[in-house]
Amino acid sequence: MSEKPVDSLTESEAADELKQLAAEIAEHDRRYHAEDAPTITDAEYDALRRRNLAIEERFPDLVRDDSPSLRVGAAPAEGFAKVRHAVPMLSLAKAYTDQDVADFIERGRRFFDRDKDLDIAFTAEPKIDGLSASLRYENGVFVQGATRGDGTVGEDITANLKTIADIPKALKGSGWPEIIEIRGEVYMTYAEFEALKQRSAAVGGQDYVNPRNTAAGSLRQKDPSVTASRNLKFFAYAWGYTTAEPAPTQFDSVQKFKEWGFKVSPLMVRAKSIEDLIAQYHRIEEQRSSLGYDIDGVVYKVDQLELQRRWGFVTGEPRWAVAHKFPAEQAMTTVEKIDIQVGRTGTLAPVARLAPVTVGGVVVENVTLHNEDYIKGFDSNGQPIRDGIDVRIGDTVVIQRAGDVIPQIVSVVVDKRPAGAVPYEFPHTCPVCGSPATREINEKTGKEDSRRRCTGELICAAQAVERLRHFVSRGALDIEGLGAENIDLFFNSGLVKTAADIFTLKDRRPAVTKALAERREEQARLREEASGKARKNVRSVEERNYEGLDKLFSAIDARREPELDRFIFALGIRHIGETTAAVLARQFSTIEELIRVGKETAKAEDPHTIFPSINGIGDTVINALRDFFGNERNDDVLDALLAQVHPKPYVMEISAGSEVSGKTVVFTGSLEKMTRSEAKAMAERLGAKVAGSVSAKTDLVVAGPGAGSKLKVASDLGIEVIDEDTWLQRIGRDG
Ligand code: IVH
Repeated sequence: MSEKPVDSLTESEAADELKQLAAEIAEHDRRYHAEDAPTITDAEYDALRRRNLAIEERFPDLVRDDSPSLRVGAAPAEGFAKVRHAVPMLSLAKAYTDQDVADFIERGRRFFDRDKDLDIAFTAEPKIDGLSASLRYENGVFVQGATRGDGTVGEDITANLKTIADIPKALKGSGWPEIIEIRGEVYMTYAEFEALKQRSAAVGGQDYVNPRNTAAGSLRQKDPSVTASRNLKFFAYAWGYTTAEPAPTQFDSVQKFKEWGFKVSPLMVRAKSIEDLIAQYHRIEEQRSSLGYDIDGVVYKVDQLELQRRWGFVTGEPRWAVAHKFPAEQAMTTVEKIDIQVGRTGTLAPVARLAPVTVGGVVVENVTLHNEDYIKGFDSNGQPIRDGIDVRIGDTVVIQRAGDVIPQIVSVVVDKRPAGAVPYEFPHTCPVCGSPATREINEKTGKEDSRRRCTGELICAAQAVERLRHFVSRGALDIEGLGAENIDLFFNSGLVKTAADIFTLKDRRPAVTKALAERREEQARLREEASGKARKNVRSVEERNYEGLDKLFSAIDARREPELDRFIFALGIRHIGETTAAVLARQFSTIEELIRVGKETAKAEDPHTIFPSINGIGDTVINALRDFFGNERNDDVLDALLAQVHPKPYVMEISAGSEVSGKTVVFTGSLEKMTRSEAKAMAERLGAKVAGSVSAKTDLVVAGPGAGSKLKVASDLGIEVIDEDTWLQRIGRDG
């Protein structure tokens, strides 16, 4: 953006700058709306728009057809049906200072000047930082929901919106208009955002940036069950097309929404004066950090709908409303060092250690640097990345708490960079175990993962507990009585470091007894503390009867000859889930053969010269096997494990002759004699294909208690339905 005052621009300079601003703002709109990936802050964006408006005001003849002032947002993304909003979805003018608010009210007073006794009232409510949606109700029934899109045309996301509990499928109460489009904000709470991040990290999934973008992504899912799993929320605060106004005022209309079953902000008030509005602004600001979701300002609206109508609109914005934005809280400090933390799934996460500084009442000492590319400011193709930042040790940085919670670096004060500060070099080995740390290429997109991961899968202490938990989990070795809690205990007391140690626990009975006893003591002590009651009669450790222990040891022994596919899955090699493990077991038949081929593949320059081409196994899996078997340090752990455990060679079962071979089977309802994944694996071993939903291609439906819609579809299509026992008989597994 040019620094030249608008007043001193020549006409041709103005024309050039308007052209440039149109292109620039359009690009930012696209990044924000279509990609949910803005590259500039809201304040920077607003500054661009203000500059554009100021130039247009001085040179009205130069307003371009593609001027941003004539548009509200970006065109909708591809993939969803388009919905034309019966009444456009508007944006809000912004105020940054009390003076801006005073100006807004003054404009209103001037506009209604002839009505000297007119009593303008306003509402004040939080500006929720989510995505707006428009929900169409016909005769009280939710019929269609859409995103804002460019304000005129949005995307039809009805199925996804229906998964949101805050959105009623039918209006409650009575007195609603025949047709009404309810508008409001879809958002995600911090708690839900954190939970999603954790779930994703646990399976090595994608990284999520902030609740707003995540909510946006969640709404654009092709599969509504994904949206459902995100637990989005909704506040109603406005309306579009309606056959009758809900009430004569904004405030009462929103109260009606509440009666009809919507959630509305409890922080909305009616106010008469600028003092009242500003007071509510500060009250809301005070509560901001305890709300549990992002808000970025307070919206003031003229209360009387009659006055709203009279005051009207400018391009894309109502004149009768304004968003009073919160200033971002910022502070300056220095980066003392950069540490690399290794996550439980092996991700190397860089963290800047800061000289402690207070931002908005909270001391900030650490801030995430996200990943390797972020610290460099560009990706491996040399493309600048969003929010990327060249941070070096010793740098002075401006930090801010985004949404009042997660601290982030806003900028580096390059002028203050110490002489000799060099760009940070991201380690290529794991700081915990010394194994190589690599970045994977996503097979589908061909792009490099932004995260570097430790390849020391079995030996890395940072990943150890997680791996052990996986090793004993259900689809893996499934050792009864050895859940996450006991694994944690045995790991923390040094009894189990790698999977092989589980099988020698029996030889260390006294130490195991001691660890269990200590935990009992600890739990009793905590209970006592909580209840305030003293314990009676404390028995000594030796007196205790650990009959459970024998059970545990025999459960462990019972797993010394696991099925090969379970064993491969239990190793926890990246990208090798239950299905892939079964494919590998079928292909290689013995663990020895898999290891042999794995190691040779790791040594080969071109893995494809060694590794056979197998249906369902692509480069992602082959590379994961290379990393695993190529890391010599995994050898010792694997050797120790194979000294204890002897996976059964894989034998083809009856498959070709099986009655279900070649058939497509769907399981529905709950199964009582086996888990869903066991049933699936068994069917696949017999040559059947297992599908998730019933279609004309389905041959057989196995239904347990609680089977729902799939059963109906099956009977509509005339597909054979059997129960679990009949299924077991049919595959020769009964009795
Ligand atoms: S009213 C006619 N109220 O802010 C005015 N908008 O910058 C229509 N927003 O697209 C909007 N909280 O996504 C209104 N309490 C609130 C809001 C709110 C958040 C969003 C909404 C809108 C954007 C405008």
